[in-house]
Amino acid sequence: MLFNESLNDIERDIKNCKRCPLYKERTNPVPGEGGFKKKIMFIGEAPGKNEDLQGRPFVGKAGELLDRLMSEIGLSRDDVYITNVIKCRPPNNREPNDSEIIACRTYLIRQINALKPKIIVCLGRISSRVIAQMFNIQFTSISRDHGKVFKSPIRPIKVFFTYHPAAALYNRVTLRDLEEDFKILKKIIEETEGSQ
Ligand code: URA
Repeated sequence: MLFNESLNDIERDIKNCKRCPLYKERTNPVPGEGGFKKKIMFIGEAPGKNEDLQGRPFVGKAGELLDRLMSEIGLSRDDVYITNVIKCRPPNNREPNDSEIIACRTYLIRQINALKPKIIVCLGRISSRVIAQMFNIQFTSISRDHGKVFKSPIRPIKVFFTYHPAAALYNRVTLRDLEEDFKILKKIIEETEGSQ
């Protein structure tokens, strides 16, 4: 078990990682980034084409929507750390498989241990499933559990599930749900700040 390691140590290991075959086709790994002023982590699924080219999370169309949703509730990228379950792009943006998720999970665990977030926001089904399992939370489905906050029984962390912004790009109903979820998230952030 590694204690008190820095994000730089984790980033270095991600850049050298060969734990699954995805490293062979990547242009850049995407470890994650952000300022973390509010002790909030946003966790997506995996880098897409733009993220792979730039080595930065959520810089394409889904990222533009995420930026808008965050700014509407007063959050900037300096406030939150943004990363993904998988740090390298799966070919043709396919869903990551279980062995890739297991191989990459070690980095997510290390990032969470290094950052000690108060709130984790799971963007989409894959991230929700992985984080729920990590923190002993009962997660059923995004359509049922989105917009709800769950307290981990094993760590002082609140977990919030919502849709992946990419799912809302061409679906107005999902977009409306996502916008409503962010309003709920704003309240949870305020409550969490108020209880410190
Ligand atoms: N989708 C994700 O899940 N993560 C990104 O970084 C970009 C798109």
